[in-house]
Amino acid sequence: MSVLTKINILQQPTSDAWIEQAIANLDIILLDHSHCERKAASGALNFMFRYPSYRELVHKLTAIASEELEHFAQVNQWLDRRGIPLAPLNAPPYGSVLKSHVRRNEPERLLDMLLVSSLIEARSHERLGLLAQHCPDPELAAFYRGLMASEARHYGIYWVLADTYCDRAQVKPRLAELAAVESEVLSTLYPEPRIHS
Ligand SMILES: [Fe+2]
Ligand SMILES: [Fe+2]
Repeated sequence: MSVLTKINILQQPTSDAWIEQAIANLDIILLDHSHCERKAASGALNFMFRYPSYRELVHKLTAIASEELEHFAQVNQWLDRRGIPLAPLNAPPYGSVLKSHVRRNEPERLLDMLLVSSLIEARSHERLGLLAQHCPDPELAAFYRGLMASEARHYGIYWVLADTYCDRAQVKPRLAELAAVESEVLSTLYPEPRIHS
């Protein structure tokens, strides 16, 4: 079974070019991964600041925020192990392009933010799976395999929250629009290796 058939919210699977680029630059991928996990924790917290009275959302995203921070700490241990210093990295256009499609007014904003988060988690799940499959270091591959399962849960939770708080008739068509944007932005490989290049 291909990865894509398991992740049915993504419109296009990751290219072989990305896999080659990532495997040839695992140190940069690990550093970028650290940034991704920190941003994922912060994204979950931001939802709680903006929608503090949405009980289900607060409850589920509290768990996600702490898991992402735990992933952040684990990736940072890998950085230490491989002697990679924590350093800033310029972000690929992926996140900013997706955010530029988030509508500014409620209730559309919440729907778009939840769906964008779900797509990012789904792509992370797919790519960590590819890293697990192709990484030449068996221990690092096992680490990626472990994280992959959490990211799969996360994209499901964001999707369920969209279905809980937003107009159900709008969720699927909007997901299809944003998923098209998400696949389009990845159709040109970013020249520098990134988790979402
Ligand atoms: Fe994570
Ligand atoms: Fe996640």
